[in-house]
Amino acid sequence: MSFGVEAGETFGIIGPNGAGKTTLLNAISRVIRPMSGKVSLEGNDLAKLAPHEVRRIGLSRTFQGADYFLELTIREFLLLGLLPDMKLSSFASSLGLRAARRRDTKARESVDSVLEQHEMLDVAALRLHEVPYGVRKLLDVLRATMLQPKVLLLDEPTSGTSSAERERIADLIRELGSQMTGAIVIVDHDIAFIGDVCERGIAMSAGGLLAEGTLAELLSEQAVIEAYMGS
Ligand SMILES: Nc1ncnc2c1ncn2[C@@H]1O[C@H](COP(=O)(O)OP(=O)(O)OP(=O)(O)O)[C@@H](O)[C@H]1O
Ligand SMILES: [Mg+2]
Repeated sequence: MSFGVEAGETFGIIGPNGAGKTTLLNAISRVIRPMSGKVSLEGNDLAKLAPHEVRRIGLSRTFQGADYFLELTIREFLLLGLLPDMKLSSFASSLGLRAARRRDTKARESVDSVLEQHEMLDVAALRLHEVPYGVRKLLDVLRATMLQPKVLLLDEPTSGTSSAERERIADLIRELGSQMTGAIVIVDHDIAFIGDVCERGIAMSAGGLLAEGTLAELLSEQAVIEAYMGS
């Protein structure tokens, strides 16, 4: 497997169940450590860094199922997205130091401004288990973009969502794509959705690369058709 993504690009990854898409994102984001190979972001080899260092140099991601931290409120969940950048220790916070208080106020303000932009300020105090699955998926994308990442990895942002929720997530990704200077990499089973939001991408199967190009190019490759449909 080898491929590259440019800054400013929205890049899709397709492939049948078990193709290794999540494993690939896990290796890139250092959830697992690759046994060999290189994952490079602006010259840094991510495979050699600790997971928190990978976050700090600008890689952020969502996970396939939006079913974690369900007891957190929406506001607390988005605050999580700012954690890699919080330089003062929780010890400083516990002492109530002025710098820590100022930092916390600033963090809360930037979360509230994101919630306001997306018309969710009035529900900020709801807990995640109280909101629909599709809204949790959208919130997970927002959490992962709180620090303007250089690379945003999204693992199936639309799985399990209704068509209205999917449209809302597609709009958000297009909006992020036009604002972000970094790259967005999206794994999804919904090929129409990938075609909607991505300029190009790759198809994979059995842990390897089948084809690279625009969605139309991917879908015209015999190997891609066979991976989905059998020969
Ligand atoms: N470290 C590993 N070594 C060997 N095999 C692994 C490893 N991690 C995952 N696998 C296997 O690789 C396969 C691909 O899994 P993965 O979850 O990455 O697929 P996927 O393309 O994301 O599938 P889905 O579309 O269902 O989410 C699975 O059979 C999984 O058990
Ligand atoms: Mg997967």
